Amino acid sequence: MSGPNSDASSWDARYASQELVWSLEPNQFVVEHLEHLAPSKMIDLAGGEGRNALWFAQRGWQVENVEISQVALDKFLKRAKHAELAENTIATHGDALSAKFELQADLLVVAYLQLPAASLAKALDNACNQLTPGAMVFGVWHAKRNLTEGFGGPPMPEVLPTPEELEIWAKQNLVNHEVFEVERIVEKDGAKRVAIDVILKGQLAKSE
Ligand SMILES: C[S@@+](CC[C@H](N)C(=O)[O-])C[C@H]1O[C@@H](n2cnc3c(N)ncnc32)[C@H](O)[C@@H]1O
Repeated sequence: MSGPNSDASSWDARYASQELVWSLEPNQFVVEHLEHLAPSKMIDLAGGEGRNALWFAQRGWQVENVEISQVALDKFLKRAKHAELAENTIATHGDALSAKFELQADLLVVAYLQLPAASLAKALDNACNQLTPGAMVFGVWHAKRNLTEGFGGPPMPEVLPTPEELEIWAKQNLVNHEVFEVERIVEKDGAKRVAIDVILKGQLAKSE
């Protein structure tokens, strides 16, 4: 399958096939790197069932989950309503490469949006064009090195970024940026396995 529409249908099918595809808890690196921030407005790009967006909403943030799967967004909205967070949450159905956001946010979170490099750069450009000047950008991906040295993640090398690829985009678009690999422990069938992720962290320039 290829193209945004078939991707959307395969993601819809995956989200429809089980109650919860990802965890209820936010990503550990999102927590580690962003929990010190004061509540404001954030975009969770390709936020899936919204584990990260809902964690921010619980902390007083206004959040917008921009997702290609309507099934994932329906689950996100249901969880937000159940947690009495509906007022703070927006679900935007669209392709990350072109979606228009409702919020002008000062934080962008992108967790495991595994796209080929050119598409990923387009999605990040589209998002950054809609953030406030000085906004923080935080992304985490299954790293290319995970394919040969780590556990889990998609087996397609073309959707696994290297730190060098992310560095090229970051240098052109961010100030004060950092790109680095991290290890994540995954428990599977009683055994602990190591997954290798890559993190991108930086800020948009403030306008003069
Ligand atoms: C691995 S999941 C990660 C979900 C979520 N960020 C998390 O960490 O729990 C990848 C998500 O990207 C979404 N996605 C894939 N391609 C997309 C696109 N072009 N635009 C928006 N969302 C997309 C999928 O529907 C899926 O929810």
